[in-house]
Amino acid sequence: MKNNSTPLIVGNWKLNPETSAAAKTLFVDVRKKLKKDAPVQVVVAPPFPFIADLMRLSPAGRLLVAAQTMSAERSGAFTGEVSAGMLTSFGVRHVIVGHSERRALGETDGDVNRKVLAALAHKMTPIVCIGETERDERGTFFNVIETQLRALSEGVTAKQISQVVIAYEPIWAIGTGRTATAEDVQEMQLFIVTVLTKIYDRLAAKRVRIIYGGSVKPDNAQILHSGGGMDGFLVGGASLVAEDFISIVRSVTQ
Ligand code: PGA
Repeated sequence: MKNNSTPLIVGNWKLNPETSAAAKTLFVDVRKKLKKDAPVQVVVAPPFPFIADLMRLSPAGRLLVAAQTMSAERSGAFTGEVSAGMLTSFGVRHVIVGHSERRALGETDGDVNRKVLAALAHKMTPIVCIGETERDERGTFFNVIETQLRALSEGVTAKQISQVVIAYEPIWAIGTGRTATAEDVQEMQLFIVTVLTKIYDRLAAKRVRIIYGGSVKPDNAQILHSGGGMDGFLVGGASLVAEDFISIVRSVTQ
């Protein structure tokens, strides 16, 4: 982890839970278990319909609320979409961009870049997911990561990039129970910083928070955090159980 950056833990609820009541219960459970002054930033990303209610349940912002995606457009004929302006009007400051499950639905590197720019224009923090589908012995997956990093940062200034969070999520590790090893995570952290240094400079690269996602659970969070050197986690499945999620939060504050 880079000096003086506060760890960030993001819970991606995906298409869960089914009801508003269940969402509120889960949110309040997590919020209650969060220590007041814990040196960590904790964010959950519920489905859109729950956002406004959950924001009201944490008025002091101890537990922050993010969107799972958003449109790059401001307004107009885009059925089903939600804009950055709409989200910020509710006080939402974080948005996940380019999750592999969105990319699988057709979101391209170009779309991801436009969303990053739209988020930054609204002073939001984009949590941008990148990751390879598979690993190969020869390391060609590093090229995939570099391509995704170059694409997402197109037109993003050195000052703006410090506002971006990069979530390294190898697709083969998402929801599969297979995680990258702490060594793999550390190697990728260094690689991402190296690429960002080439695109920007060392100082700017060091300011970017880089988190890991893909089957992070209470029993592997500690080792992934201490050995992986990243600034936090993006958690899917385990963010739906308050106790598990909090135990992952604790693993980065000890
Ligand atoms: P997982 O999901 O923790 O269930 O693997 C991570 C994610 O998709 O962000």
